[in-house]
Amino acid sequence: MKVAILGTGYVGLSTGVSLAEIGHQVCCIDVDEAKINQLQQGISPIYEPGMEEFLTRNIAAGRLRFTTSHRQGVAGAEIVILAVGTPQREDGSADLTYLVEAAKDLAAYLEQETIVVIKSTVPVGTNDEVRKILEANCHEDVSVKMVANPEFLRQGSALKDTLEADRIIIGSDHQQAASKVKEMYSPLKVPCMLTSVRSAEMIKYASNAFLATKISFINAVANLCEAVGADVTDVAKGMGMDKRIGNHFLNAGIGYGGSCFPKDVKALWHTTRNEEVDFGVLAETMRINDEQQVRLVKKTLKRFAGDVSGKKIAMLGLSFKPETDDMREAPSIKIAQELTKLGAHVAAYDPVATKNAKRVIGESISYADTLLEAVTDADAVLVVTEWQEMKQMDIASLGEVMKQVIIFDGRNCLDEEQLRNCKNIEYHPIGRPAIIT
Ligand code: UDX
Repeated sequence: MKVAILGTGYVGLSTGVSLAEIGHQVCCIDVDEAKINQLQQGISPIYEPGMEEFLTRNIAAGRLRFTTSHRQGVAGAEIVILAVGTPQREDGSADLTYLVEAAKDLAAYLEQETIVVIKSTVPVGTNDEVRKILEANCHEDVSVKMVANPEFLRQGSALKDTLEADRIIIGSDHQQAASKVKEMYSPLKVPCMLTSVRSAEMIKYASNAFLATKISFINAVANLCEAVGADVTDVAKGMGMDKRIGNHFLNAGIGYGGSCFPKDVKALWHTTRNEEVDFGVLAETMRINDEQQVRLVKKTLKRFAGDVSGKKIAMLGLSFKPETDDMREAPSIKIAQELTKLGAHVAAYDPVATKNAKRVIGESISYADTLLEAVTDADAVLVVTEWQEMKQMDIASLGEVMKQVIIFDGRNCLDEEQLRNCKNIEYHPIGRPAIIT
């Protein structure tokens, strides 16, 4: 099948390489010339495991092309996928500017029988709005068939998530268009659910909001575990054994970040307000998350009797989760700001996100080139992102370089057995009893 994709961000690019991988002829379009030049050479503008191999292989096989020209990109395409960003506006609602622009740019080149798929996360009703824009700007003999096809991939495992998704949601009011999109995905052998456009749009927001709520719920349980002397890891495991609850997304920590959960929960909240529907649990989910992001700061402050000024705090991890250099809504931002405000000197280390972090956090903290450099002479270590390197760090050797080994683990990712075997350490996880040797 010939497929055109507008937007080469996480969603557009992952979809593009995956569709090429399963044999389709894919052309990705983006207005950013520098990005397209890079992509044509097989260079990925995002850090995503496996992306460059997929790019190189499919470009070489002649299945994947990149262009800045809508005319060239869309020519002959049976399906056009819109995968541009829908960032957050000041008031929390989704900003559809890029999508509207993309629709306007695209309209003139649509051919008679084109199916337009929206993959971007968009508020309920957006597919209808985009259809109107397309219809107003395309040739009169073109009939636009919209399909809402939300994306559920995670950063860091984007390709695996696309190729081995749990489900594919296809929302359309045109049976034929829905069948065509289903056929496009058929080599993937992933269950497809056909539904209406509006239900498909809603499934995306409801899924993300539910997962975010699951995280806030377990974080609140973790805080309670700390207060009553229980262990949240065991509690989550015990809860998760009930199939109705499930054992995923019950890892307590320092809250969710990233480009989707914070933005999507806010956008859904905004919709509930517009529709005057009471959905208070969303507000609680956001409130708990805001608090949880600074949980490590509060713990550190308490440990140092309310005064961290002049202390060197090593912050291990900057990205919002491992295997990505993405800093959007990363808990590290707030942690760095709060500690700096309290007069601490923060030395941060991240294997890939430092460049992006410098742009977001700035020079109020220092950035170490190695984990060792960050922890040397530190008064405390805060584990903020569970990179493999952090999980595998040699805790016993910290005693040789730190002033005193005090660790606050915001991801409960360090090895307990190793910790218990170390001398003179203090280990404070989230929602679990401390280990003091
Ligand atoms: C998320 C959704 O999972 C995905 O379906 C959607 O398409 C986009 O948003 P992503 O933001 O890439 O994906 O990352 P994810 O792995 O879901 O993690 C999001 C945040 O939640 C991270 O900050 C992570 O650390 C946190 N998290 C996740 C927890 O704190 N606990 C958990 O149990 C799971």
